[in-house]
Amino acid sequence: MCGIIGYCGPKPAAGLLLEGLKRLEYRGYDSAGICVQAEGGGPLSLYKRKGKIRELIPLVPEELAGSCGIGHTRWATHGEVTDQNAHPHLDCSGRIAVAHNGIIENYLSLREKLASEGHRFASETDSEVIAHLIEKYYSGDLMEAVRRALALLKGTYGIVCLHRDHPDRLVGARQGSPLVVGIGHGESFLASDVTAIIGHTKQVVYLEDGELVCLTPEELRTTDLKDQEIQKKVEPVSWELEQIEKGGFAHFMEKEIFEQPESIKRAMGGRIDLEQATAHLGGLNMSNRDLLNVERVRIVAAGTSWHAGLVGMYLLESIARIPCTVEIASELRYRNPVVERNTLHFVVSQSGETIDSLYAMRELQRKGATVLGICNVVGSTIPRESNGGVYIHSGPEIAVASTKAFTSQITVFYLFSLLLGRMRDLSADAGSAFIRDLASIPAKVEAILAGSRGIRELARRYCHYQHFLFLGRGINYPVAMEGALKLKEISYIHAEGYSASELKHGPIALIGEETPCLFLVPDDGLRDKLLSNIKEVKARRGRVIAVCAQGDNEVRGIADDVIEVPRVHETFNPFLMVVPLQLLAYYAALELGRDVDQPRNLAKSVTVE
Ligand code: G6P
Repeated sequence: MCGIIGYCGPKPAAGLLLEGLKRLEYRGYDSAGICVQAEGGGPLSLYKRKGKIRELIPLVPEELAGSCGIGHTRWATHGEVTDQNAHPHLDCSGRIAVAHNGIIENYLSLREKLASEGHRFASETDSEVIAHLIEKYYSGDLMEAVRRALALLKGTYGIVCLHRDHPDRLVGARQGSPLVVGIGHGESFLASDVTAIIGHTKQVVYLEDGELVCLTPEELRTTDLKDQEIQKKVEPVSWELEQIEKGGFAHFMEKEIFEQPESIKRAMGGRIDLEQATAHLGGLNMSNRDLLNVERVRIVAAGTSWHAGLVGMYLLESIARIPCTVEIASELRYRNPVVERNTLHFVVSQSGETIDSLYAMRELQRKGATVLGICNVVGSTIPRESNGGVYIHSGPEIAVASTKAFTSQITVFYLFSLLLGRMRDLSADAGSAFIRDLASIPAKVEAILAGSRGIRELARRYCHYQHFLFLGRGINYPVAMEGALKLKEISYIHAEGYSASELKHGPIALIGEETPCLFLVPDDGLRDKLLSNIKEVKARRGRVIAVCAQGDNEVRGIADDVIEVPRVHETFNPFLMVVPLQLLAYYAALELGRDVDQPRNLAKSVTVE
């Protein structure tokens, strides 16, 4: 989703801004722009256009002078994808430039009022009103003008702005849309996420909602909306630049799929207690007594993280014997959820910034719930505002389609189920066996990845179908949904994930030669039921790909194509079932020539509703 970068320091700003925007590309966008202060207070240099950053770069003169500027990648919400609607936006005088993430909900009334006062608008966006409001209130103090403008806004924003009369300063503010300040040596950065700046500095300050910041190359001043000074903590960033580069892979998605043996290990790292046959998750901030008092768990998330939560539900119920529900964050938020006593809530979010999940968390907390986060991005809003939680430590996930975050999120649910299970029904022996099985997963995932060529060949043969059904049962039902989501996200092939048992209640009407079915058929207690479901499809001339356990000749005998995966205790199959589906989606998208890492219309981190 939209990205922001700002720079002030001694270096030419244009190159740094464009580089920062390239690092933000992964978030998803449809137009981009930069605005640079001319040296010595000349006119602002503004370059913006629809399309990719590679189309913006030729517009920007190589020798563009000016060492303070702002940049933006836009993901259209208000107004079509056009050059005019791209950010930054200027005020009437062309002295103020603003880039904005989020949505200004009352922009129409503000725009009408400003227009009646003589302001002229150049775009259809909600964001442009901010530039004109700052213009209206400016009388020499940029931060003060921004503060007065913000007081009139309803909605969400992360903004950065500059003024021609203050050639060495940026003003930023945040309400519901993340912003982070990067502190360098004699230079300062402002960005919507740390990936844009970690090539330059590892020292950052995270802004909270309701905070404004004024940056010069040497210092930063942070205040609230009432101009009260706020002392901010400078925090280190642990991510390395190499982690946000492709490292020899064709796409980030491919790299991230292949990183999974390592990322799963990292999610377990230091959290397994062999002696007590349990797990330790220090960040939960809960004593054993607190954990013992948990009577129910509710998991809240969106997209792939929601699917991980569904796997978590099966685990918590079967291993820890705790009733669990899983909900889509945006639905939960607007239906006045009941918060029951002794219910532990989890919000699962790779980015830690998904607005639906964040607002659902705030609503639950307002009702008195204890909410724990399961997140990847350290310092992001959900982990900072939650009552505790677990970082999955996957390292940066850049591809829009989430892969390694999913397997790490479920790893955390395996650990948490083990921890709660060992406090309840699970014996020490059963706990040790559980740990052995979990520890065996990275090598088994490695083995699947080693056989990726076969999956590529399969993708080549199947990628021209228009529709797909993904079918699984039990703990692999959410994996079927995740497989379908991966395929539709990046190949644009229509795919649905269903419980195989639901086939007869509707989807079977779709079966025929034109709709292949991908069945997840591990060697578990539901295998025979799945074999019957496959036969029902075959009887209707449907084509079947089956993901099954190594050496399962019966499945091989009835399916048209099979992908074999290593055998494991049935509880752990989701890891081994999902990886082939990620590869299948990746190779199908590749075969169809899609933009794998930045699929159309999608955003990595969805910070608007
Ligand atoms: C977007 C992304 C998905 C992701 C979802 C939730 O829709 O495109 O890949 O699963 O947001 O993101 P989160 O960061 O909260 O896990």
